[in-house]
Amino acid sequence: MQTLKRIPTIMGAFWRLLFMSREEIDDFLTAYDFFGNDFTSEEHMRSVLGEDYIEIYRRSVRDRYHVMNFLCALGDVEKMYSPPLIDETKSPFDNQLMFEKRMVEDIRPALTPNGRLLDLGSGRGTVSANVHEQTGNGVVGINIDPTQIEVGRKLAVKKKYPIEFVLGDFNEPEAFGLLEEGSFDAAYQIQALSNVHDKPRFFRSVNRCLRVGGRYSILAYCRNPHYDRDNPTHYDLMVRTKQLMAAIYSPLASELSEWLEDSGFRVVHSEDMSVKGELSWLVLYEKLNKHFNRIDTWVSRLSRYRILPRGMAEMLARFTANGDAWHEADRLRLIAPAWYIIADKVRDVER
Ligand SMILES: C[S@@+](CC[C@H](N)C(=O)[O-])C[C@H]1O[C@@H](n2cnc3c(N)ncnc32)[C@H](O)[C@@H]1O
Repeated sequence: MQTLKRIPTIMGAFWRLLFMSREEIDDFLTAYDFFGNDFTSEEHMRSVLGEDYIEIYRRSVRDRYHVMNFLCALGDVEKMYSPPLIDETKSPFDNQLMFEKRMVEDIRPALTPNGRLLDLGSGRGTVSANVHEQTGNGVVGINIDPTQIEVGRKLAVKKKYPIEFVLGDFNEPEAFGLLEEGSFDAAYQIQALSNVHDKPRFFRSVNRCLRVGGRYSILAYCRNPHYDRDNPTHYDLMVRTKQLMAAIYSPLASELSEWLEDSGFRVVHSEDMSVKGELSWLVLYEKLNKHFNRIDTWVSRLSRYRILPRGMAEMLARFTANGDAWHEADRLRLIAPAWYIIADKVRDVER
């Protein structure tokens, strides 16, 4: 049923990919070089990339997501995040919906009838739409990529939902400048915190947007404490997993809690949702991998016979590469791709 409902989205994404220009494809492929790093701080990024590192960062993120949002829409993870495993019998898409339901229930106590929510790194606006459907509240999404904002705006207009989008780099406090201070009941950020350079500064910006008593929910890509950068196997797995998942930084969950507490929040919940009892997140990985590899195989075959353009096969091959690293990094518990935190704003802080 879900798949039937998704057919127009899948067809739309296929169409956009079919007509990607050579330049767009090359930019997408080149962006992977940027993600093939294990950056530990903004200073580290500057030392590796040079003085124009911010420009390289922005260009790489935009070029990657400009294409990736359509590739994801072809498959089971339209929402561009890898959900925690909540029900192993269900698809990744269903697990996303289950996670969003849980997130909304966790945020709900902070919501007031006309209050708004802030979606940080709002993708194609699909989560914002779901959050509005579940709460009736308005949502404002921030995204660095105009392509996804365009998709999100069309969706909001079509459904007549009170969802707005702000185009900007959320690393810049100015991106928050358009949002009225203390005007949000809640904020959420689903697998986009890995793109934040200066987490304490960013948390202060989020703090500024929320009213006291507002709630902030985060699903983040984290590293686990026994990840050792000096171990060549660990390092290789981390870098290749980051390339696959478009992750940039990989903080410890404990660091996130500390920075939140220093930024006027109280952490009320912190949980590694990548693991569920005996079941590892690998179960989801297997499903996703199988699904996208099947698409990859067909596109590659059809492009060999020139039924589909070669560029489409190149994009899919790049998109599905390094799955083995993700699998191994997860098996060794080097990463926690779905760490879930809920924090309440308890006081105002200076920016
Ligand atoms: C892994 S995706 C998650 C998308 C979205 N939360 C969802 O569930 O569909 C990360 C999102 O953050 C956006 N993003 C990345 N860096 C950003 C930045 N510096 N400022 C604003 N948005 C950013 C990307 O364009 C992308 O939409």
